[in-house]
Amino acid sequence: MSSLTLGIETSCDDTGVALLKGERTILSELLSSQIKDHARFGGVVPEFAARKHLENLLPLVDAALKESGVKGQDLDLIAVTCGPGLMGSLIVGVMAARALSQAWGVPLIGVNHLEGHLFAPLVDSDDLRPPFLSLIVSGGHTEIIRVDALGQYQLLGETRDDAAGEAYDKAARVLGLPYPGGPEIDRLAKEGNPHAFDFPVPFKNTKDVEFSFSGLKTALLWQVRKIGKEGKAIPLNDLCASFQRAVTEALLAKVALAVQLTGIRRVAASGGVAANSALRAALTESKESQQWKAWLPRISRCTDNAVMIAMAGRCAWERGIRSPADLSPDPSMEIA
Ligand SMILES: Nc1ncnc2c1ncn2[C@@H]1O[C@H](COP(=O)(O)OP(=O)(O)OP(=O)(O)O)[C@@H](O)[C@H]1O
Ligand SMILES: [Mg+2]
Repeated sequence: MSSLTLGIETSCDDTGVALLKGERTILSELLSSQIKDHARFGGVVPEFAARKHLENLLPLVDAALKESGVKGQDLDLIAVTCGPGLMGSLIVGVMAARALSQAWGVPLIGVNHLEGHLFAPLVDSDDLRPPFLSLIVSGGHTEIIRVDALGQYQLLGETRDDAAGEAYDKAARVLGLPYPGGPEIDRLAKEGNPHAFDFPVPFKNTKDVEFSFSGLKTALLWQVRKIGKEGKAIPLNDLCASFQRAVTEALLAKVALAVQLTGIRRVAASGGVAANSALRAALTESKESQQWKAWLPRISRCTDNAVMIAMAGRCAWERGIRSPADLSPDPSMEIA
């Protein structure tokens, strides 16, 4: 019989639970988003996120088992995110997974959250195989990883300051838009002119795989102040479209560079910003994209979810990776 893996994700503000049969059959996929709880604070409040996970996690586990007709004791593996992320949030997931593992006599495996994101494009596509390049663009990370085999990762480059998602969220705050900013900017940009403002594209022509987004956010802030001083209305659509163009160009330039440097012509993208319509179009339809084939997760699996954690955990288990019964969270865990 195919193995059953329970995936648990609590690294930030989404509580995710999934039940995976075999390699890729999803029996249950549940997510309790805290976006509305945190929106009034303009960002994630770590202490509050941890308390919400505590309320939400076990009911979601119960619901996932019930909807799949599976008993806890029937599981073959529990895969839980153990880092990177917010310490309080991670503790809730890891401690719950440890307790369930003991109670049901089911082995436990800790999953690196970034390896989880890296697996998201593999969830829906069975034709993505290493070697490939993984662009992870999330709320906390912007990196390009060379994947020579599943489990064998080399970091080619990352951001020097803000992550792409963080840049979207900060830009939204400058523009007075709600949290999280990415989806809102994406929506407003659709009616705007991407060339209305000539925002800088950081590191566009450097020969290293590196990103920087903090200067772009500052350029947006100065532009908004300038328009305000002139007493004009803030052209939200044009500002969003121009900001989004600059972020997308920066990401696209480094994907193209990584393809050129490695000769690997398969590109997978994941993380919340991989839901961005301009980035998705750039990776699949731009002139540059003729150099590679791109794999993107469905929109709902770009952001945090437990299916990607279950799949990454199961794959690591098959490769012989084991975690101790007293697995501890590591908030600053790295992938490579
Ligand atoms: N359509 C979109 N366009 C741009 N950004 C988006 C879009 N949808 C979501 N985002 C951004 O994605 C981020 C959330 O993504 P994700 O859940 O992968 O990050 P995270 O889990 O908080 O970070 P990490 O995985 O690094 O710990 C937010 O910053 C959000 O603004
Ligand atoms: Mg994430």
